[in-house]
Amino acid sequence: MREGADASAAEVERFVREYSAKPLVRLVICGSVDDGKSTLIGRLLHESKALLDDQRAALEADSRALGTRGGDLDFALVTDGLTAEREQGITIDVAYRHFTTAARAFILADAPGHEQYTRNMVTGASTADLAVVLVDARKGVLTQTRRHTYLLSLLGVRRVVLAVNKMDLVAYSREAFQRIETDYREFCAKLDVADVTCVPIAAVHGDNVVARSAAMPWYSGQAMLACLDAAPTGADLRAQPFRLPVQRIIRPNQDFRGVAGMIAGGAVCVGDEVTVMPSARQSRVAAIFVGDRPVGGASAGQSVTLTLADELDVGRGDVLADPGAPPATADQFQATVVWMQDRPLLPGRTYLMKLGTQTAMATVAPLKYKVNVNTLEHVAARQLDLNEIGVCDLELSRPVVFEPYSVSRELGGFILIDRLTNDTVGAGLLHFALRRSQNVRWQRFDVDKRARAALKGQKPCVVWFTGLSGAGKSTIANLVEMRLHALGCHTYVLDGDNVRHGLNKDLGFTEADRVENIRRVAELSRLLVDAGLIVLVAFISPFRAERRMARELVEPGEFFEVFVDAPLQVAEARDPKGLYKKARAGELKNFTGIDSPYERPEQPELHIDTMTAAPVQAAELILERLRTAGVIPPG
Ligand code: ADX
Repeated sequence: MREGADASAAEVERFVREYSAKPLVRLVICGSVDDGKSTLIGRLLHESKALLDDQRAALEADSRALGTRGGDLDFALVTDGLTAEREQGITIDVAYRHFTTAARAFILADAPGHEQYTRNMVTGASTADLAVVLVDARKGVLTQTRRHTYLLSLLGVRRVVLAVNKMDLVAYSREAFQRIETDYREFCAKLDVADVTCVPIAAVHGDNVVARSAAMPWYSGQAMLACLDAAPTGADLRAQPFRLPVQRIIRPNQDFRGVAGMIAGGAVCVGDEVTVMPSARQSRVAAIFVGDRPVGGASAGQSVTLTLADELDVGRGDVLADPGAPPATADQFQATVVWMQDRPLLPGRTYLMKLGTQTAMATVAPLKYKVNVNTLEHVAARQLDLNEIGVCDLELSRPVVFEPYSVSRELGGFILIDRLTNDTVGAGLLHFALRRSQNVRWQRFDVDKRARAALKGQKPCVVWFTGLSGAGKSTIANLVEMRLHALGCHTYVLDGDNVRHGLNKDLGFTEADRVENIRRVAELSRLLVDAGLIVLVAFISPFRAERRMARELVEPGEFFEVFVDAPLQVAEARDPKGLYKKARAGELKNFTGIDSPYERPEQPELHIDTMTAAPVQAAELILERLRTAGVIPPG
C-alpha cells in the first residue's frame, strides 16, 4: 500500500494492527480544498514520516504483496464492506491513508473531490473516533462547518480538533483566532460533542502542525499533531456482544462451508454457541480462520471465516450473534437521513436500503422535520434537498436485523440507493424500531383474488396509461373500457383528474405530491386487482420510479404499461383543457413538459404513437395485447 494509494479501511487497519503496537485511532478531516485540506494532509503524512520507525519498510513491502499470498482459502477470506460496495457499483470516494506518531497509529479517511457533497465526509466519519474540522481563518465558521460538525455529532464522533488554517493570511492575529474559537464553541455547546480543541495553524508553512510555531507566541496550547496524539482512542468494540454480519458463504468444495464477514462487535471462540438472526437458529462454532490460518478466537474488526457444527441455512445479510444478547429485527423505524443527491428525497418513493450486508426496499414516510444546521432548529419539510438532514419514519419491504446507531454503527448505519441509477443518494442512522406494525397482522380470507376473478371469468390486471397531459390517455382508456365492457369484462377506470377530486384532493403538482399521488393510486389498483377487476389507470405518472413501484405491487404478468406517446408540441397544440396555454403564460406552475419533467418509459408493454394511431386503433392494439396475454379470451 503506497502512501496516498486508495486502500480500504480494513486493509489499512489490518496492517496497522499487525505492525504497530500503538493504539489505533481513526481520524477524519472535514473541510474543503479551499480551506487547505490537501496541504494539511500532505504535511501530516510528510512530517510524520520522520516519526515512523523501521517497521514502515516492512509494512510497505508486505502491503505491496497484498493479494499475492498463496494458501488454499486466501482467495475469499479477505473481504470488507467497502470492497463489497465497490463490487456492486456503489461508489464512495474515500481513500484511507495511514501514519504513525510517537504515541498513536492513525488511519486517516480522506474524502477527495465532490466537496459540495457531504457524502464522502459522512462515509469517513461513520467509522472515525476523532475529527479535524478545518476552517479558513479569513472566513471563520461557515454553514458547511456547522453542517459537518452536526453530522460528526450525529455519527458519534465525540472528539473534534478545530484547525483554524491560513493564520498567515490574517497576520497571525490572536483576535481572529479567538473570534472563531468562541463562535465554534458556542455552536458545539448545543451538540453532543464531548471534547473540542482549537488550534491556529498555517499548513503551508507548517506553523503549529507538527511543532509549535514562533509566529504565534500568544498561543499556549499544543501543536495539532500533539492534540491528535492526546485524544483518547476509540471505544473498544470488543467489549460488546458478538456480532458478525455475514458477507458471503464460502464453498470451495463439498466438505467446507464457511461463513465469512467482518466481526462488527465482541469476540468469538471455537466452541461458542451462536444464534443466526433473523431465523434465531442456533449452532456452535466449529472452526475460525483468519486468512487461511485456523485460530482459536477472533474479535471486532477482524475479517474471519467461521464454520458451524450444524448445517444451517445461513446467507449474506444474516447476522451471527451472541445467543445471550441477540440483536432485534424490525421493518419500521424512525431514522435520521442525510440527503446526498441533487434530486430531492421524496417521501413515498422507494429506495434500496443497505444496512451492513443486508438489503431491503425502504419507503420514506412523510418527513417529521428537517434540521436547520445553522440554528439546529427543526423545520417542517415535505422533501430533503442536497446535503439536508431530516428525521422520518422508514417502512421496509422486509424485517432486518438491526441495532440503534448509538449502540452499533455497523447494524444501525445505512445507505439509500436510487434503484434506477444505482447511485448512493442518502445515508442514515436508525434510532428505534416502530412496533405499530407488530399489532397489525395480514388477515387471510377464503375468497381470494383467484376466486373473485373466476366468478367473473377473467384474469385481473392493471393497464397503466402514462404520457403527457393531452396525449390521449383518458380517451383511449375510455374506448378500451367500452370494448371490455361489451365483452362482459368487469373493469374500473382510475383517472388522474377524477381521483384528484376525491381521494387525492389534498395533493398538488410538486414532485413530492406526484410521488404520493401515484403511490396511493398504485396501492388502490393493487386492491382492485385483488377484487378481480381489470383496472385501467390513466395518470401522467411522470416518474419511472413510481411506475416501477406500481408494477411491483402486483404479480408478474398482471401489469401492462401503455405509453401514450405524443410529442410535447403536439400535446400542446391539442391543449384540450387550455392548460398548456396557462402554463406558458406563467399562470400554472410545475406543468409537466414545461417546467416539470416527464421520464419516458424505457420498456413499456405497449408504445402507442398517437401521431400514427388514432384512438380507436390504439384501443384495438391494447385489446390485442390483452388477448395474447390471456387476459381476455381469443376474439
Ligand atoms: S400526475 O403527474 O400526478 O400523474 P395526474 O395524472 O394525477 O398527474 O393529473 C394530471 C391532470 O391534472 C392533467 O391532465 C391536468 O388536467 C391537470 N393538471 C393541473 N395542473 C397540472 C400540472 N401542473 N401538471 C400536469 N397536470 C396538471
